[in-house]
Order: sequence, then C-alpha cells, then structure tokens
Amino acid sequence: MESSQGHGEDEAKRETLAVILTAAPEGSQTLKRELLEQLQQCQKQHRDVNLMLHTVTQDSRCSLCPEKWLWWMGRCYFFSVGLQENRRWNESAEFCRQYNSSLIVIEDSAEMDFIQEVMTKFPQIPFLWVGLTDAKQEGQWLWGDGRAVQHYMQVMVEWDADHRDCADLRGGASLFAADCEEYGPWACKKEY
Ligand SMILES: *[C@@H]1O[C@H](CO)[C@@H](O)[C@H](O)[C@H]1NC(C)=O
Ligand SMILES: *[C@@H]1O[C@H](CO)[C@@H](O)[C@H](O)[C@H]1NC(C)=O
Repeated sequence: MESSQGHGEDEAKRETLAVILTAAPEGSQTLKRELLEQLQQCQKQHRDVNLMLHTVTQDSRCSLCPEKWLWWMGRCYFFSVGLQENRRWNESAEFCRQYNSSLIVIEDSAEMDFIQEVMTKFPQIPFLWVGLTDAKQEGQWLWGDGRAVQHYMQVMVEWDADHRDCADLRGGASLFAADCEEYGPWACKKEY
C-alpha cells in the first residue's frame, strides 16, 4: 500500500494551506474563507478515504486509531494492559484526557460485550476503571458524559459505600464500587 506517501502529501498540502491562512492579509477575507473551506473539505476527504480503506481492507496499516489503540465500531479504545502500570481512578482519567479521550462510558450491550471480550483475552486485567463515579453525590452514579448509570443499560453498581466512589468493571459485565485511591488498569475511548 502506498498510503504513507499519499498521506505525506496530504499533510504537506494542509500545512501549506495553514501557512497561507495565517499569512493572508486582513483585506482578503473572501480568499481566507475559501481556503478554509478547501482545508475543511480536504480534511473531510482524508477522513473518508481512511475510513473507506480501513473498512475495505481491515488492514492494520490503515488503522484509524493511534498505535496500540483498538478500533471498534467507529471508535478507538485503549486498554492499559500493555503499560505494566496501575493508576488511581483520577490518574487514569487524566491519562485518557491527555489522549483526547475519556475513561470508557459503556453505551450499549454490544459495546459491553466487546469490552468483556477484550478483558477475557487479557487475564491480567481482572477489572478496569471505567468512567462511572458517584463522587459528586453519594449513591448517584453518573457516567462521564453526565448520564445516570442506567441511562444506557440496566446495570447496577454493587458494593456501594461512602468511601467507594469509583466504579470498576469486571467479568460478567458487573460493576463494583471501589475506593478511587486504589490502583488498577483502565480503559479509554474516543470517537474517531
Ligand atoms: C489524584 O488524587 C490524588 C489524591 O487523591 C492527588 O494527590 C492527585 O494529585 C490527583 N491526580 C490528578 C491527576 O488529579
Ligand atoms: C489533542 O487535541 C489537541 C487540540 O485539538 C491537539 O493539539 C493535540 O495534539 C491532541 N493530542 C493528542 C495526543 O491527540
């Protein structure tokens, strides 16, 4: 596949456009707008072509996610299993943020199945921090997007207690309340 060269050209074009955009004098608003439109169109085409290549070939070289992230249903997932590192819940969330992602919010049972499948493949992750917490108000479990725990699926958080404000996901699609200060593996998700 010669996608790397084509990709390089695209990058170069976008950089050139970006330079022109910044350099354009105040008077040339129309030109600026046109270039901006072109740039956006170019970026959209780039995404579409990538998506098409990936869908058609399933080739990892056309992966749409950063290296070591998994692609599933138009999203990228990171499982900290390769890092040999455990983190507190807030530090896990911080890791995800640094990659413009969030601790996983599980939106339906298909996604839950996918995550469970990954967990089965890696026995070293018996549980995972997920983006679910009742730190703001005890007993009110909210996903990272502000939705209530049962918004997406009928799930319960077991073992809830005052000092256990962060949820971890285990086998059997079960969620447990845990002390946020505990160290563990985690999973991030972002839209492509
Ligand atoms: C996470 O929480 C710990 C203590 O609870 C705190 O010391 C640390 O600064 C926090 N880290 C982040 C990234 O928020
Ligand atoms: C995150 O997004 C910002 C702003 O769009 C970008 O500058 C940065 O490179 C991104 N970081 C990663 C790791 O993708």
